[in-house]
Amino acid sequence: MKDFVAGLPKCELHLHIEGTLEPELKFELAARNGLELPYSSVAEMRAAYTFDSLPSFLTIYYESMRVLRTEPDFYDLAMAYLRRAAEQNVRYAEIFFDPQAHTSRGVPFDVVIRGLRRALMDAETQLGVRAQLIMCFLRDFQAEYAMATLLESLPYKEWIVGVGLDSDEKGNPPAKFAAVYERARQEGYLLTMHCDVDQDDAIEHIRQAVEDIGVNRIDHGVNILEDQRLVETVLARGMGLTCCPVSNGFVTGSLKAEGIRKLMDLGVRVTISSDDPAYFAAYVQENLLALHDALQLSREELAQLQRNAFEIAWLPRHVKDAYV
Ligand code: ADE
Ligand code: ZN
Repeated sequence: MKDFVAGLPKCELHLHIEGTLEPELKFELAARNGLELPYSSVAEMRAAYTFDSLPSFLTIYYESMRVLRTEPDFYDLAMAYLRRAAEQNVRYAEIFFDPQAHTSRGVPFDVVIRGLRRALMDAETQLGVRAQLIMCFLRDFQAEYAMATLLESLPYKEWIVGVGLDSDEKGNPPAKFAAVYERARQEGYLLTMHCDVDQDDAIEHIRQAVEDIGVNRIDHGVNILEDQRLVETVLARGMGLTCCPVSNGFVTGSLKAEGIRKLMDLGVRVTISSDDPAYFAAYVQENLLALHDALQLSREELAQLQRNAFEIAWLPRHVKDAYV
């Protein structure tokens, strides 16, 4: 089955580029930028990756970004991921980036996006991997800062396919960003947002995302199973859910494999992605294999997960048709 999964043409839709920062590159960038790291080796750094909740992960995730300073740093970060993606037969990826995690520490927006964009262009010609960017707002910052970030992104609109919402969900419901999402829609961005697994008020957050904001898809969102009416809405709209089993395992102690199976059986367009692979030690292939170990998926089901992903990808129909 490993060979079968390796050979599948893949589409990854839930991937934080900052979550692909491997310890080796972190050391390289720290040296390049003259920064000290609080670890003496890659092994020591990896050993410190012990998370048991979203906040405990986010603390290390944001701390690590200190080493990202210049346009070449962001280029190297994205290029490293895209090389790994190409090795795993990922043909198309939609890549989240968190501009506020950088602008809030003095790195200009254009430095971030120019570095990422250049890597995406080179990956297409050099690696045969196509990718687009999704700009995420940090939900634990104020909505006004998200709006300012949205406005700052407008000169680069052609380089960004949509917007997302991530970071700490507790006390930061979708409704907080309703005006930002409305403006993003008017500007032509497609809309997604995290509805993290087993959050407080998970089902109310999913309801707001689907019914009040009208997102095009949901990142995670497995708790939708708690409300049959919302499942029916998602089915009727053909919406997709980008699930990340290994990430679920770190954050909640469970891959949520049974929930993912149930969604698949109901015909929801579930997809499998890696979320923050450098921290959870699993890229998309390892996520698919972890899910297969839990559920004994058939080849047809594994292939269906990839068809779902290409189907809900934010690509023109004729481009998708070349993949599915
Ligand atoms: N930012 C990066 N990874 C995240 C995750 N898994 N949940 C919420 N915000 C994130
Ligand atoms: Zn995520």
